[in-house]
Amino acid sequence: MKGIILHGGHGTRLRPLTHTGPKQLLPIANKPMSEYCLESLRTAGITDIAIIIGGIGSNKVQEYYGDGKDFGVKLSYIEQDSPKGIAHAVRLCKDFVGNEKFVVFLGDNIIQKNIQDYVSDFVNSDDAASILLCEVNNPSQFGIAEIKNEKIIKLIEKPKNPPSNLAVTGIYFLTPIIFDLIDKLKPSWRNEFEIVDALQMLLDINKKVRYYVITDFWKDTGTPEDILQANKTILENMKPYFYGTKDDDIIIEGNVMIGEGTLIKNNSKIMGPVIIGKNCIINDDVCVGPNTSIGDNSKLSHCKIKNSIIMENCEIDCNIKIKNSIISSNSNISKKTDQDEKIFLLGEGTKISL
Ligand code: TTP
Repeated sequence: MKGIILHGGHGTRLRPLTHTGPKQLLPIANKPMSEYCLESLRTAGITDIAIIIGGIGSNKVQEYYGDGKDFGVKLSYIEQDSPKGIAHAVRLCKDFVGNEKFVVFLGDNIIQKNIQDYVSDFVNSDDAASILLCEVNNPSQFGIAEIKNEKIIKLIEKPKNPPSNLAVTGIYFLTPIIFDLIDKLKPSWRNEFEIVDALQMLLDINKKVRYYVITDFWKDTGTPEDILQANKTILENMKPYFYGTKDDDIIIEGNVMIGEGTLIKNNSKIMGPVIIGKNCIINDDVCVGPNTSIGDNSKLSHCKIKNSIIMENCEIDCNIKIKNSIISSNSNISKKTDQDEKIFLLGEGTKISL
């Protein structure tokens, strides 16, 4: 079986974070979100994987993953000239897939459950497709399945009047028959070739589309709030480690992961769940956490940061409280005045002097 990871798209809901690179490379617990997809596929024994790339900074994807050897997989890259929809991206993989069954992972979907059992079921079935459904509170924002007598009878993309709250997650188990159906698709009202419409065509010609309702954590990380939520859940479930150095009186509580070469000193406090990368300096009355990731080589002084992601090579030296924020790599915040509370969504290389 082959694997496909979608790494293209517009990423409009995550601007300015996506102005310098694809959203799927944004870090969750200090690891690009698409790496979780790659790991899910690898754990299920799928190691021949194509990554669909396109748009701003797509070269960064190839730079990060290379030929896949370092990640225990074999990678090919397929360019999508413009983001014409998930079905359009899948269609580009026809030659790569050949006659095999395959799994498509949207590179911004994070699923906690191991997909191995679904893969085995699918390989041993005559299903034309299999999908994972998950209950959501805002069904109008998703592809939604209508179920009757334990069968999917209809799939609708972002319905105005949703027939259920069962969202189609971004993990699809497919067979090559889907390619011929995608060729017959017309663009939707949002001018995209929708995978949900192609799956509906399978139903229309009476092909078997199996479904599972998953209850484990699944997140489509399209917005900053989704990313922070995924960051929190992943941090809560990580195994703690401490490879850094700290002053004796430093307080560390909860689930905490500290990388090599990181120094924590002078009355600073770490309230897990928190991950701090390699070679960071946490100095002078800093409080980090809970639910916070700090990327490699970042320096923090005098600040309090909770529920946030600070990427690598950032410097924050000021007496402020930062919460619910995402601050991209190489950003710098400094401030001379008194303490205040702030929320930031900062693109790469931002400099703020308050
Ligand atoms: P979406 O999140 O639905 O769309 P988007 O990435 O364009 O973002 P926004 O709505 O904020 O503008 O896309 C789902 C996934 O599929 C995501 O991982 C990006 C990927 N994708 C492609 O690879 N090619 C495409 O043509 C589209 C539309 C999405």
